[in-house]
Amino acid sequence: MRIGVLGTGTVGQTVALALVRAGHEVRMGARQAGNERAVGWAEEAGAAGSEGTFADATGFGELVVNCTAGTGSLEALAAAGEERLAGKTLIDVANPLDFSTGELRLFACNDDSLGERIQAAFPRARVIKALNTVNAAVMVDPASVPGDHVVFVCGDDDGAKAEATGLLGDLGWPAARVVDLGDITAARGTEMYLPLWLRMMQTFGSATFNIAVTRG
Ligand SMILES: NC(=O)c1ccc[n+]([C@@H]2O[C@H](COP(=O)([O-])OP(=O)(O)OC[C@H]3O[C@@H](n4cnc5c(N)ncnc54)[C@H](OP(=O)(O)O)[C@@H]3O)[C@@H](O)[C@H]2O)c1
Repeated sequence: MRIGVLGTGTVGQTVALALVRAGHEVRMGARQAGNERAVGWAEEAGAAGSEGTFADATGFGELVVNCTAGTGSLEALAAAGEERLAGKTLIDVANPLDFSTGELRLFACNDDSLGERIQAAFPRARVIKALNTVNAAVMVDPASVPGDHVVFVCGDDDGAKAEATGLLGDLGWPAARVVDLGDITAARGTEMYLPLWLRMMQTFGSATFNIAVTRG
């Protein structure tokens, strides 16, 4: 399918390339067309990869993946255009991390989340929060961590959730390892996991780990 990936950072580049390798056509979006990282990515991706503005990538995509900095996501999606997002599944990988004070803080938490803010700001988009609990390399290579570890999805639209789960399958996550947490308010929990994720990364000295859930 045609997919718009918003974001030129490690996550955008990694996810976009994996989607091309899985057989999709991908356009990477940035604030400006001709973004150096996006152009480099498109060259590496080959014929199925292209780049443009956030609006170009969103217009191109039948499905859109938000891989922008959490602090810029609403701005990026506004530039993408609410009309272009209408009716589309929007997989939101961003986290509400704010390091501006020198310390980690979540700018949305407790009874709020970035996923909910995006859904509220773009009510016609079908927002699915996913993949924000794993490092970019693990997102596209679950086998780099042994065991039946999981990723989470949440969102208000069941059809969009099924579409997102299918796409996660293309990235190597079987449906049995995709945990459906319900509506978009569950983004609060997956986003508030980030302080623990970051602390574990410091403790382990590696980002190659993930959550495995054991149930009684
Ligand atoms: N790094 C990971 O392994 C990881 C794992 C899970 C989740 N995440 C989340 O995934 C997202 C992407 O992370 P990343 O490290 O790949 O990249 P990043 O550096 O957090 O974000 C880069 C992208 O954000 C855009 N951006 C930044 N400020 C903006 C603003 N004010 N308005 C519009 N766009 C803006 C940039 O646009 P330009 O291209 O125009 O510069 C760029 O495309 C983040 O929300 C992060 O928390 C990251």
